[in-house]
Amino acid sequence: MTSTALDAPRESRGLRQRLRRLADAAVTPLDLDDVLDVFHPLRAGTELRGRIVEVRPETADSATLVIKPGRDWSGHVPGQYLRVGVDVDGVRLWRTYSLTHGPRRDGCISITVKAIPDGLVSGYLVRRARVGEMIQIAQADGEFVLPDPLPAKLLLVTAGSGITPVIGMLRNLYSRAVAPAIDITLVHVNVTEDSAIFRDELRAHGEAGHLRLVERYDDRDGMLDVAELETLVPDLDERLAYACGPAGLLDALEAHHEARGLDLTTERFRPVVLGETGEGGTVSFASGQVVDSDGSTPILDAGESVGVLMPSGCRIGVCFGCVLPLQAGAVRDLRNGAITVAVPGETGPEGIAIQTCINAAAGPCTIKV
Ligand SMILES: Cc1cc2nc3c(=O)[nH]c(=O)nc-3n(C[C@H](O)[C@H](O)[C@H](O)COP(=O)(O)OP(=O)(O)OC[C@H]3O[C@@H](n4cnc5c(N)ncnc54)[C@H](O)[C@@H]3O)c2cc1C
Ligand code: FES
Repeated sequence: MTSTALDAPRESRGLRQRLRRLADAAVTPLDLDDVLDVFHPLRAGTELRGRIVEVRPETADSATLVIKPGRDWSGHVPGQYLRVGVDVDGVRLWRTYSLTHGPRRDGCISITVKAIPDGLVSGYLVRRARVGEMIQIAQADGEFVLPDPLPAKLLLVTAGSGITPVIGMLRNLYSRAVAPAIDITLVHVNVTEDSAIFRDELRAHGEAGHLRLVERYDDRDGMLDVAELETLVPDLDERLAYACGPAGLLDALEAHHEARGLDLTTERFRPVVLGETGEGGTVSFASGQVVDSDGSTPILDAGESVGVLMPSGCRIGVCFGCVLPLQAGAVRDLRNGAITVAVPGETGPEGIAIQTCINAAAGPCTIKV
């Protein structure tokens, strides 16, 4: 029988499989993927990873990490975030960081991290991460993105490291061949001038006429009261508003804008949780690990602290990327105190789906992972 054009893909698949078997045999007793991981860790078709190619200090306690992503990286929309999995003292921990890069010829991406006191991952990334180090990454995600088409007038309110998704937006907007027709006011709040990440770059945007920059420093101007916005931004009511910063500022802004019937999109770095929490308990994972956890530690954090590999996403209760079955026991929702109870035999073998990033143990409980 003669072969046809339709047979070509089948033949090339067969050839690939034969070559793969040959290569497998050549590296036995090792696994071929393990060998490729050493020489070509960013190849397509494997777990998505990134190589740190630069760690650039921004302020005394923040740094930008430039990362070469694996071939399967599918890009992002400015304002979105990246989940990174980092080994800190032998434990793989996942955290979320906004993407801060503009277009780059080398295809690299970047995140900018502020080290918080006692912060495991932020402290590691700012002070200990090294060029050449591989980290795990996930595809970009998030809803904190500008609408298309762009609004005529935009208000951006940022505080501290809350500037990160916004610098990503600005870098991408102002690297376009034709500057966008948009009137932007950026109110940027920091404790001190020295601690302001991207301060000089933002000033340069202001001087180039890309935006009106209102800099606020707590030590110089006092804490920003959102009622001051009406003076700082006279045409406030005409501007579509985006804000990213600490919970106190975002809560006040949401109340302020809601009272005026104005739209506001926010990005929170931490979930809104109750001040008061209850008793914790022993969390048992079906994979065998057990950890005693207090009533305020999310099950996701508790599991990761003893090396349980758990799915996760935003870590603030938004994306549902961390849902796992509660097979037995009780957990408490840290946002509203609601208790979920699973009783073996009553709730079925699959248990009850819970978000592990915003639920903590409320007594002994078992999670299937
Ligand atoms: C969508 C999204 C985008 C984010 N983007 C950025 C970013 O661009 N740059 C950046 O630096 N961070 C960003 N974060 C925050 C980041 O994901 C981590 O929460 C932060 O780095 C702390 O992690 P850690 O492991 O250092 O602290 P942990 O070891 O988890 O916590 C240490 C202590 O600090 C407290 N804590 C945890 N997070 C914060 C926080 N954000 N502020 C103050 N106290 C905290 C904890 O309650 C605990 O007491 C983002 C978070 C989200 C959800
Ligand atoms: S990780 Fe996003 S909801 Fe839990």
